[in-house]
Amino acid sequence: MITKEDIDKIFDAARIEEVVGDYVALKKRGANLIGLCPFHDEKTPSFYVSPAKGICKCFGCGKGGNAVNFLMEKEAMTYPDALRFLAKKYNIDIQEEEQSPEQIQSHNDRESLFVVSSFAQKHFSENLYNTDEGKSVGLGYFKERGFREDIIQKFQLGYSINQRNAFSEIALASGYKMEYLVKSGLTIEYKNDREEGTEEGQANQQEIKYSDRFWGRVMFPIHNVTGRVIAFGGRTLRTDTKKIAKYINSPETEIYHKSDVLYGIYFAKKEIINQDNCFLVEGYTDVISMHQAGIENVVASSGTSLTHGQIKLIRRFTNNITILYDGDSAGIKASFRGIDLILEEGLNVKVLLFPDGDDPDSYSKKVSSEQLKDFIKNNSKDFISFKTNLLMNEVKNDPIKKAGLIKEIVESIALIPEAIYRSVYVKECSRIMDVEEHILLSELNKIRSKKYNEKRNQPVEPAENNSYIEELISEEKKEAVSADAEHQERDIIRLLINYGNKEVRVEVQDDDGKPMEIGVTVAQLLIHELQNDNIILDNLLYNRIYTEFVEQLEKENVPDYNYFIGHENNAISSLTVDLISTLHSLSNWEQHGIYITMEEDVLKKSVLNAVYALKSRRLEIMIHDIQKRLKENPPEEELVQLMQTQHQLLEAKREFNALLGRIIVK
Ligand code: CTP
Ligand code: MN
Repeated sequence: MITKEDIDKIFDAARIEEVVGDYVALKKRGANLIGLCPFHDEKTPSFYVSPAKGICKCFGCGKGGNAVNFLMEKEAMTYPDALRFLAKKYNIDIQEEEQSPEQIQSHNDRESLFVVSSFAQKHFSENLYNTDEGKSVGLGYFKERGFREDIIQKFQLGYSINQRNAFSEIALASGYKMEYLVKSGLTIEYKNDREEGTEEGQANQQEIKYSDRFWGRVMFPIHNVTGRVIAFGGRTLRTDTKKIAKYINSPETEIYHKSDVLYGIYFAKKEIINQDNCFLVEGYTDVISMHQAGIENVVASSGTSLTHGQIKLIRRFTNNITILYDGDSAGIKASFRGIDLILEEGLNVKVLLFPDGDDPDSYSKKVSSEQLKDFIKNNSKDFISFKTNLLMNEVKNDPIKKAGLIKEIVESIALIPEAIYRSVYVKECSRIMDVEEHILLSELNKIRSKKYNEKRNQPVEPAENNSYIEELISEEKKEAVSADAEHQERDIIRLLINYGNKEVRVEVQDDDGKPMEIGVTVAQLLIHELQNDNIILDNLLYNRIYTEFVEQLEKENVPDYNYFIGHENNAISSLTVDLISTLHSLSNWEQHGIYITMEEDVLKKSVLNAVYALKSRRLEIMIHDIQKRLKENPPEEELVQLMQTQHQLLEAKREFNALLGRIIVK
């Protein structure tokens, strides 16, 4: 259990922009920050963060909340785990009992996997520094490779003892459940008597029912974007046999989806933002050596070409990727297809070729850090030109091959979403290939119009942000057909939550009947107005908030939005987030940062406006009901009654509308 006191401390310390900033590159927009939504795939930012309010919110998919809500959603954490995570991030000591194995068990699956992975990482590091075998074999190897002490520690490298059960036994003895050891992939369980899933060793099948996945290997923990260990790579140090894979990796688990993970992203993200560029290398050792040489904006995709998920991950931080190739990589041409995918995502791709026989790891050890930086700076080429040059060398003077090449290059160019870049590349390639621009252009247009037709014939997929537009449209429809006052009620709640404790001046009569001004809170004014006309909110959620407000006021307590954001009822807390971030006509006003002062200036008018709008709407609904009944040819007596009521209601409505007309401020 975390104490209330500690929870308050955590909420005080947590900066929403920092918590969200761990996942998304944020740019300042007035008092707020905006960025690409980490919850859905998008290219134009619709995710906004308000440091002042301590909340974030996506206007595309609607997700958001305070720092804790954000983590719960993003990391699928439980409430207490999100608090613990923040406490750790902000160095807040929380008074909690040491977790017993039972408590560990009760964690949800994902969290258990994180806990197991973290335990394993510590265990492997411990081996590296505190066992004879680890020191001589593991640490010895890293030192021989030239890895510095601080770098070994930064990347939390480790060593797995050369015994097939060493890790599993210690983990079990420390209270970790076999279930999670297996789910994490660190332990391999035997399903039958046959030897399965291991690659080395002559085990006695009768005795051993499980085995470590990693043993006798140096260990590279793989971190997610927030720095939690989610998987491992292990390199064997044996050179005596070719039968053993040089590297083995954790399998897919609930917390490790290979195609969404980039090795090194946690250590690189800050520098990727600073440099506005991300270097992509092949593997663990390349990332680590580059860091050691002072280049930190570097990640590895672990062998394969980039997946959609990985590109998305990079695009949170930058639009620019530089791919670093081994000099002798036969895979360059094979990788072109993958790079097309990156172009299609709208990223700018550069490539860099290391001298023959070198990869980033080996090259960085041959030259100084300065020389490495210079080399990268001077030799990075944009992808299209690089591809063109490389292939041109092959076709030389073969006109048929050259025609094929032109087509291939233009296909790459056609993938680039921005017209302006396409035309730059057309110029560049026309020069390199010595082909007239208009030929390339006409080829380009052919491909693009073919693509367009293909798209048109596909079942229509909602484009990004469409859901938002659809929502708006359906909102409008709802308004037209439904006979409720949902919008008006919502506006009342919005004002209560945002401004309930703000003061406005109203005119009342003193004891002698003379007018005088007094200050009341917005909450008092709203509640007074509604109670005066016996208005009860129809919407159950709004009514619940309203009632709670009245109750709190009776206790002389004026709750503000924080009270409702932190509300135990999820529906209330998420509605609150909506209400304090969805300002009326959000984008325009908000973007200019003038909305809040505007509304506070005209607060009283807004409050009265909302009250009259609700009352007017209620009248409309009553009138609507009467007219419906009138159409049903009611008996004479009822008809007269209805007509009279209708008249009164229409009068009242006219009055309210007149009031509304006067106070609506445009
Ligand atoms: N790699 C991998 N799986 C392999 C081989 C390589 O995942 N079977 C990745 C590793 O991440 C490694 C990178 O590719 O860091 C570079 O490969 P390589 O040079 O073969 O690995 P090194 O450990 O550097 O081996 P060597 O000392 O022989 O260069
Ligand atoms: Mn190598």
